[in-house]
Amino acid sequence: MVDRSFADLSLAAWYDRLNPWGPGDDFYLDLVMSARAVLDVGCGTGRLLSGARRAGHTGRLMGIDPAAAMLVQARRREPGVEWALGDLRTVRWRAEFDLVVMTGHAFQVLVHDEELSLALAAVRAALAADGRFVFETRNPAARAWETWTPDRERRLADPDGGVVRVWHEVESAPATDRVTFTETFEGGRWPHPQVSRSTLRFLDEDALTGFLTGAGLTVVERYGDWDRSPLTAASPEIITVARPTGWARPTH
Ligand SMILES: C[S@@+](CC[C@H](N)C(=O)[O-])C[C@H]1O[C@@H](n2cnc3c(N)ncnc32)[C@H](O)[C@@H]1O
Repeated sequence: MVDRSFADLSLAAWYDRLNPWGPGDDFYLDLVMSARAVLDVGCGTGRLLSGARRAGHTGRLMGIDPAAAMLVQARRREPGVEWALGDLRTVRWRAEFDLVVMTGHAFQVLVHDEELSLALAAVRAALAADGRFVFETRNPAARAWETWTPDRERRLADPDGGVVRVWHEVESAPATDRVTFTETFEGGRWPHPQVSRSTLRFLDEDALTGFLTGAGLTVVERYGDWDRSPLTAASPEIITVARPTGWARPTH
């Protein structure tokens, strides 16, 4: 599912202002800098790989995203990265990456079992035998959606003048592991509020492991936050490092 808000060019330009560089980006940048060939799935506005190129990464960097408006931002930012329009099903992968990442909770847009399984099979196909797939998903036990309420609106100055108000509203309390919510932008250059509706899936640790195992991937590390602390019920994130099943840890 494409996040419709950021498929719109006028809203994509707001993405980085609403989601500034944070500890998660530092966590991934370290991994990217130590890998030869990296695929960023759901790369959005491309800040991770652009940051890596600017920090001196000389290997292959490829970002893929189905939202053309997000890639417009990425291409403007760093022409020296391979930016591809599409999703994991768009390309025939040839085990060419030693690191595949999904950052900024992009993993949670994979809502249906079948799209999740197909995406993970494609990740497996893109990974070299000793490669790593690293991604995070919000820990369902931390119930982040309970903070997605209109009273927590954000106000940002519009470069064209005025103020833009942005807020979230959950449509209904989750009866399943999916949460549907709206994000509204109001003010600035828009004569009417811009409303986008998205659904995200909140899988728990065991369900994630089940999907990964089914795709030929084995969990080798798991953390609950960007400081690599262990996963607990109160952790905000479930950060997973997976390897192709059968990968053997070097003994030296
Ligand atoms: C919340 S943004 C994260 C962007 C970026 N990874 C970051 O950390 O800034 C989620 C991204 O996933 C992309 N996306 C939506 N559906 C997707 C799919 N099926 N496969 C890959 N990416 C998808 C969206 O277009 C959007 O750019």
